[in-house]
Amino acid sequence: MGMAAASQRMTRLSSLGSGPVSRSKAVRVRAPAKVNLSLAVGPLRPDGFHELATVYQALSLFDHVEVVDRADGRGLKLSVAGRESASVPVGDGNLAWKAAALAGRVFDRSPDLSITIDKGIPVAGGMAGGSSDAAAVLRACGHLWDPDGQPESELMELAAQLGSDVPFLLLGGTAVGSGRGEVVTSAMGSGVFHWVLALSDGQLTTPSVYSRVDRIRADQDVPPPRIDPAVLLAVRTGDAAALGAALYNDLQPAALALMPVLGMLLELGPEHGALGSIVSGSGPTCAFLVADEDAALELTVALSASGLCRAVRRATGPVPGACLVD
Ligand code: C5P
Repeated sequence: MGMAAASQRMTRLSSLGSGPVSRSKAVRVRAPAKVNLSLAVGPLRPDGFHELATVYQALSLFDHVEVVDRADGRGLKLSVAGRESASVPVGDGNLAWKAAALAGRVFDRSPDLSITIDKGIPVAGGMAGGSSDAAAVLRACGHLWDPDGQPESELMELAAQLGSDVPFLLLGGTAVGSGRGEVVTSAMGSGVFHWVLALSDGQLTTPSVYSRVDRIRADQDVPPPRIDPAVLLAVRTGDAAALGAALYNDLQPAALALMPVLGMLLELGPEHGALGSIVSGSGPTCAFLVADEDAALELTVALSASGLCRAVRRATGPVPGACLVD
């Protein structure tokens, strides 16, 4: 089967409304993955979220999102393609769909849009693929409906309504996150960091990992979260060895308790030259920081041969947030 036929076969489709697509205006957006270099989880708040102090970095694993403005009244249509697309919801359970609906309400436009997502970011892997698609749709809607450019702060507010890490995926780069993760400030970074990502077979849902954290800490006094200054210094100076030693994730013990194979996977990092090894966000993807491309290749081979993960990817960071492409 040719590539086009194979990709057609893998494309899954959902639609509200019907009829031929009027390809009047198309916007393409590239949306990155993220890893948390440091993720300190504070107390559970009355609204059900946890207070966070985190450092995000956007990585060069991308979803490509195309948004086409359709004729009035045609409604919203979403399709998902790519090798990571199998388990992605294609209706209003998809955050990209919610992003288009929200943008429509705020811009006072009917969301007559055809959205196509080409997945390159691991699905449900703790790398914010769904949030990044939502950020991409906001970026596209802003461009389509307000081409003179609405203030970035307005898009950020919409992003925060959609999810805790959506604002960061608009901003990109390396950034400090506070609140429930939605208040982001760019961190002055330098240099390029090399990452190897081990994609796990199973899935962990974010709420289940957070509630496991609560159970683990049930009889503890949880202090307000804080970021280790060593992480910010390493980011500023581009010092991969220092960053590797300072990587930190309060969700990791919970993710390991729920999926013990991740512990075995992380142990392979130092055995094969990684400068640091960490569960990415709520997992189950494991992220390994390495010195350079050669080290990345060596670790990739070792992880692939271990049989402990379903796939291995290499990436660099930081990269920009969701941005328009030609
Ligand atoms: O904001 P987002 O939709 O990504 O959050 C998903 C879930 O993760 C929340 O419903 C909550 O259970 C958990 N979460 C949390 N504290 C945060 C962020 C997320 O408890 N700061």
